[in-house]
Amino acid sequence: MTRQKEEEFQVGDMPNLSGYIAIVTGGNSGIGYETTLQLANHGARVYIASRSQTRVDAAIKTMKTGNNGLDIHFLKLDLQDLQSIKTTVEEFSRKETRLDILINNAGIMACPFELTKDGHELQWQTCFLGHHALTMCLLPLLHSAAQKSSSNDRVRIVNVSSDAAASMGLDSINYKDPNMADLRGVTAPWKRYGHSKQASIIAAKAITDRYRDKGITAYSLHPGIIKSNLQSHDTSFLGMLTRAAIRVMPTLSPADGARTSLYCATSPSASLFAGRYFIPFGKIGTKENKWLDDAKAVNGLWTLATNQLKDHGFVIEDIGGNVDG
Ligand SMILES: NC(=O)c1ccc[n+]([C@@H]2O[C@H](COP(=O)([O-])OP(=O)(O)OC[C@H]3O[C@@H](n4cnc5c(N)ncnc54)[C@H](OP(=O)(O)O)[C@@H]3O)[C@@H](O)[C@H]2O)c1
Repeated sequence: MTRQKEEEFQVGDMPNLSGYIAIVTGGNSGIGYETTLQLANHGARVYIASRSQTRVDAAIKTMKTGNNGLDIHFLKLDLQDLQSIKTTVEEFSRKETRLDILINNAGIMACPFELTKDGHELQWQTCFLGHHALTMCLLPLLHSAAQKSSSNDRVRIVNVSSDAAASMGLDSINYKDPNMADLRGVTAPWKRYGHSKQASIIAAKAITDRYRDKGITAYSLHPGIIKSNLQSHDTSFLGMLTRAAIRVMPTLSPADGARTSLYCATSPSASLFAGRYFIPFGKIGTKENKWLDDAKAVNGLWTLATNQLKDHGFVIEDIGGNVDG
């Protein structure tokens, strides 16, 4: 891998995004809110894909107090219901014929063990599998934007991941039991969170390997430590400790938390490192990238995710690309 030039990306470095269509999942809160606002401030039409229209409408209203002309819309998405994701994409396809930027930002963290109605662990589905389903269903619209673009790095998928992927001591994806149902102890919810985030990091590389020659690239990142609603999901004693710790820890603002997502989504320099894992504010992370140099790990995750989606009746449209990675 070529060495990256050290740089600190600023929102002022973003290009004009007029004519861009973007989706930000979980764009009504925290990091996603600021990501949405900056994409819209730079001229993109942005869809906030999230589960509560009331919360999204309230967020849009606040965003528009500074500039009523912002082009921001609600798109219903519930990552905990895989079949509903097909409806999300049908709804989006009725409105738009292209998608330039997809930011897979929504997430939950360190929740107690629970299976969704689809039979997947809550964090695995919310942070990874649901987003992978959304991405794969949106592939034709991403491809359409790439075909209409004169540049080969305009169309991007950004997976908002976390340093927890590497700090939880997980060496690889648990293929035998992606739900990690047998884990016990106070750190188990955190390990499942890290596991889902590891999958989202590897998925970005797998997507880039397969679709880069179609003009579609993907990126993953750690946004920094940010006080947000994310810390509210862990109802255990450990969760209380986390909230107490984060009150006294040095944290970034949600606006700074959005910077690395915005870098991956828009910076020409990020696209030189497509598929890679970034840390604030636009630097290449070290530990996590080791997974991405392991073709067996990347292909293994791709196969697991493809099989899990097939089990739920997802038919991924063939847009060509290097299907073997
Ligand atoms: N904050 C940090 O320190 C930190 C550190 C590392 C990584 N991250 C990652 O950054 C991302 C954003 O986190 P944040 O801190 O901004 O958290 P946040 O304020 O809690 O925002 C999370 C967003 O995800 C949405 N969401 C949750 N479950 C969903 C579902 N089933 N379907 C659709 N949308 C759903 C939430 O919608 P509702 O409003 O409806 O709940 C909310 O809009 C997450 O992926 C997180 O893992 C954050």
